[in-house]
Amino acid sequence: MEQAISILISWYKENKRALPWRMEPSPYHVWISEIMLQQTRIEAVISYYHRFLEELPTVFELAHVDEDKLLKLWEGLGYYNRARNLKKAAQIIVERYHGEFPSTYSDILQLPGIGEYTASAIASICFSEPQVTIDGNVLRVYTRVYNCYENIDRLTTRRQIREHLMTVIPAQAGEFNQALMELGEVVCIPHDVPRCHLCPLHDVCLSRKNRTFLSLPIRNPKKEKQVENYTVLLLKYHDKYAICQRGETGLLANMWQFPMLPGDYSLDEVEQYLNDCGCELSTLHSAISYIHVFTHKKWKMSSYSIGVNFCPTDLIQDVGKYNWVSLEELISKYAMPSAFLPFLNFLIDSSNGRIN
Ligand code: ADE
Repeated sequence: MEQAISILISWYKENKRALPWRMEPSPYHVWISEIMLQQTRIEAVISYYHRFLEELPTVFELAHVDEDKLLKLWEGLGYYNRARNLKKAAQIIVERYHGEFPSTYSDILQLPGIGEYTASAIASICFSEPQVTIDGNVLRVYTRVYNCYENIDRLTTRRQIREHLMTVIPAQAGEFNQALMELGEVVCIPHDVPRCHLCPLHDVCLSRKNRTFLSLPIRNPKKEKQVENYTVLLLKYHDKYAICQRGETGLLANMWQFPMLPGDYSLDEVEQYLNDCGCELSTLHSAISYIHVFTHKKWKMSSYSIGVNFCPTDLIQDVGKYNWVSLEELISKYAMPSAFLPFLNFLIDSSNGRIN
């Protein structure tokens, strides 16, 4: 076992990708990158990471950033409460720790939005504390190496794996954790045949010996996602578009969106609806459709481009007041969740570069 671990760590040192947060692995850098990486592929995170650090280079700027700017920096990454929790944790670090990142697993774990995974990543990578990080990659590598058929969606399985790895974690804890994650991401990959010929654990891997790697890890069967239909209204009045803010709780709380009706409306039904609301229409066209997939549900969204000469303020019940904003303001000021970005891109494309 000890020999396999030292082979794994040497492999990591020679093969690790040159990721920006590895150049200067301060706790702040590792924290931001790990939170971003929980929802997005590494290649997609890199540009977000650079932009975030340019605007908020230290925990002090993060603690004082206004929420609109923070959400704009997070726009497209999803799970916006993670961004809000970053700010809350930064405020605590500034107030309680005078801006110095807490240096132990148990103190880091107390911060908002930081769970076992992130706390162990920061504690091991930045402070060499022997804490194991357990993510999907580590679980895949582990179950394959040990030919383990326990269901990894069960908490008890994860606990057992964690407890076992805690007994073997070496002094170079950060390198060990990152090596297992890296191996899962680039060699022992999901959804495809693993690249066993490149694997430093080739000789000890039991699922390679038994040819069982493609059936591992064992997981719960996937549930069908619930489908909801929506009709998005791209309402335009003199170069300005209607947007509204979502409620304070629930999915995508407080984010900005285009007005949207529950249900799949035909062109005639949209016209009827808007006329009944007292809108004066100048144009009405069917626009793009898009399916957005969340963790537990799917939104099937169709849309209409609508020019209006007059539009009452209470157009859609329960959406609250809406703002009329230019495309430029929409792009630079308002954070829209990913579900609405294809519609924003459609408006940008249709404006032929005339953004004002
Ligand atoms: N994936 C998420 N965090 C990682 C890390 N620190 N190293 C390698 N892969 C990762």
